Amino acid sequence: MGVSWGIISTANINTPIIAGARASDALEIVAVAGRDGARTEAYAREYGIPRAHAGYDALLADPDVEAVYISLPNGMHVDWAVRALQAGKHVLCEKPLSRRVADAVRAFDAADAAGRLLMEAFMWRHSPQTQRFAQLAGDAIGELRLVRAAFSFPLSDPGNVRLSRELDGGALMDVGCYCVSGARLLAGEPEAVSAQQVTTSEGVDVRMAATLRHPGGVLTTLDCALDLPNRSELQAIGSSGALWARDPWHCHAASFELLRDEERETVTVARADSYRLELENLSAAIRGESAPLLGREDAVAQARVIEALYASADAGGALTAV
Ligand SMILES: NC(=O)c1ccc[n+]([C@@H]2O[C@H](COP(=O)([O-])OP(=O)(O)OC[C@H]3O[C@@H](n4cnc5c(N)ncnc54)[C@H](OP(=O)(O)O)[C@@H]3O)[C@@H](O)[C@H]2O)c1
Repeated sequence: MGVSWGIISTANINTPIIAGARASDALEIVAVAGRDGARTEAYAREYGIPRAHAGYDALLADPDVEAVYISLPNGMHVDWAVRALQAGKHVLCEKPLSRRVADAVRAFDAADAAGRLLMEAFMWRHSPQTQRFAQLAGDAIGELRLVRAAFSFPLSDPGNVRLSRELDGGALMDVGCYCVSGARLLAGEPEAVSAQQVTTSEGVDVRMAATLRHPGGVLTTLDCALDLPNRSELQAIGSSGALWARDPWHCHAASFELLRDEERETVTVARADSYRLELENLSAAIRGESAPLLGREDAVAQARVIEALYASADAGGALTAV
């Protein structure tokens, strides 16, 4: 039987999640919760979700919900993940789980105590494009020496949660976390970082550029911004070749370039819905059929790098151990 999911909030990002769930036999979305009962009722009708709950606690009390997808603003992720786990639900929590190592650990401790699964929703990691890219970075470009990662877009709405300090907004939290995830996937856990940021008057980073030093002298340069044009990029550069993905995070392109011996080749992979794949991965893990792709180790390491990048940026670019 498919896993029954509930959604916490009526966020914009729910749209591809609902579409991914609808395309799958492994799960179904049976309920959604929002702060405003009437608005959530209308939302549930619009998306064909059977039950609407007024308030997130009501969804956590719904005995028919086995797993919850949390699409709340960043600063609410850990508290609601813990509450959901303590209510006996499995949790897929939107990225980034947290910018604080202690909170990421707290969330996974709650999962372990409850005997439930928790996964950070880095949908790009589930894509066949990402898996092929990482494989070729390991065996088609010689010794990996440099990673370049970028993600930016222009945010025009000053009221957007991404600019809220209380809700853990910021360019690194919103889009730079993908660059961190990419650097870690390709080059391993960084040993030290140095970051520069431009912030709003409230202290929220709208632009950041950073260098990461990984074991073996591999370097990453990354940049992320909420005030630059739409840009996505991931490059892995080795001693004898390079890989270049121009759509590494959304993976709609289902292709990237391999440069070797002065030759440029396009590597194509099967098109896939990363949102569906992450839901199916966790649903299968809930049924004991497979392991979750991403767990405690990845999420805590991810928070550790984000914490170090903010510490460095807040100290004006100081070299900071991870
Ligand atoms: N994986 C991806 O591709 C991807 C893409 C975009 C965003 N995200 C992540 O998904 C999360 C949501 O992003 P989004 O852009 O979809 O957010 P959004 O549209 O602004 O929605 C956030 C939702 O949180 C609820 N909420 C509760 N307290 C709130 C508060 N104080 N202020 C604002 N909203 C509040 C609201 O739902 P109710 O009123 O219904 O309760 C609101 O609809 C973020 O963590 C983001 O990083 C992931």
